[in-house]
Amino acid sequence: MKALILAGGAGTRLRPITHTRAKQLVPVANKPILHYGIDAMVAAGIEEIGVIVGDTRAEVTSNLGDGTQFGASITYIPQDAPLGLAHCVLIAREFLGDDDFVMYLGDNLLEQDLAAFVRAFEAARAGEEPPAAQILLKQVPDPHRFGIATLDESGGVVALVEKPEDPPSDLALVGVYLFTSRVHDAVAAIEPSPRGELEITDAIQWLLDRGERVRCELLSGWWIDTGKLTPLLEANRLLLEKIETHIEGSIDDASSIEGRVVIGAGTEIVNSTIRGPVAIGAGSRIVDSFVGPFSAIGNDCEVRHSEIEHSVVMDDSSITDIPRLEDSLIGSDARVARSRQKPRALRLMVGDHCQIDVE
Ligand code: DAU
Repeated sequence: MKALILAGGAGTRLRPITHTRAKQLVPVANKPILHYGIDAMVAAGIEEIGVIVGDTRAEVTSNLGDGTQFGASITYIPQDAPLGLAHCVLIAREFLGDDDFVMYLGDNLLEQDLAAFVRAFEAARAGEEPPAAQILLKQVPDPHRFGIATLDESGGVVALVEKPEDPPSDLALVGVYLFTSRVHDAVAAIEPSPRGELEITDAIQWLLDRGERVRCELLSGWWIDTGKLTPLLEANRLLLEKIETHIEGSIDDASSIEGRVVIGAGTEIVNSTIRGPVAIGAGSRIVDSFVGPFSAIGNDCEVRHSEIEHSVVMDDSSITDIPRLEDSLIGSDARVARSRQKPRALRLMVGDHCQIDVE
């Protein structure tokens, strides 16, 4: 069994962060989203991983390297343009060979351990009616945003449709799929959809139309497609819920630490309150501040005379004299400061596609 992880595409809904960064490398709970997917593959016993890379290829390859840090071996497969999920399978043909594989969308985060999902497919493959594919479904309140499945009375998959205006059900396709080599016939046969992409939903429908069996499972835990700010902060919250206290940095006597907190090596907490769950990276300084629940602050950051809650602050950034920062995503090497002298005047240097809400 191999894995194909998709880390190409365009991150338009997380601009401006994604002008300079692959959306799959935005950190949640201080770990890049993509690392959770790779860790899940390795935990399921899959070590041969192909990664589809697009415009952000240089950043993804330098971040993941050859995969040794994960206990995996990574092969990069460049995609010239985001021509669809099925196109990714098409260009990965040589890497995949005739092996069964997991396809994992690099911006998806799941609570559920995927090892059982993979083992169930292997068991079904050895059974009487071996499936050609296996999908994972989850009930969602906004089915028009996803690939949607229709099941028959016995729970078998009968049809799939991509982002329907009039959804036939509320069962969304989660971004983890299992395939046999039969999918290569499907991706070679289908045509681009009206939005110009080779859709994986159409490839699976092609298999169904030819009488192939597609097994499905309902996802039990949470699942987040992290492409936008609100789901990204939600994923950060859900993952911080699970952290265990681990403190390597220093905390002075005037500071207090409450709840579960991770503080990296070399980080200094000075005259501040940290109320977990909170993760702070290495080499950061938190001075005269309050860092509240569900905040993740990266490496080499400085927070001075400020309050932060339910936010992600990436590496090398500083937050100074901000009375309260909430529900925010701050990129790396960013500076957020408030003038003490002229509190009513805003002095801004704002990039394209930024969002500033001032009250
Ligand atoms: O998140 C689940 C949904 O993912 C499914 O319900 C849909 O059926 C499926 O089409 C997909 O929809 P999205 O619109 O969310 O896909 P997105 O364009 O965000 O791409 C998913 C990942 O794959 C993302 O990490 C970027 C990468 N990608 C995407 C395309 C289109 C590539 O690497 N190459 C591509 O050509």
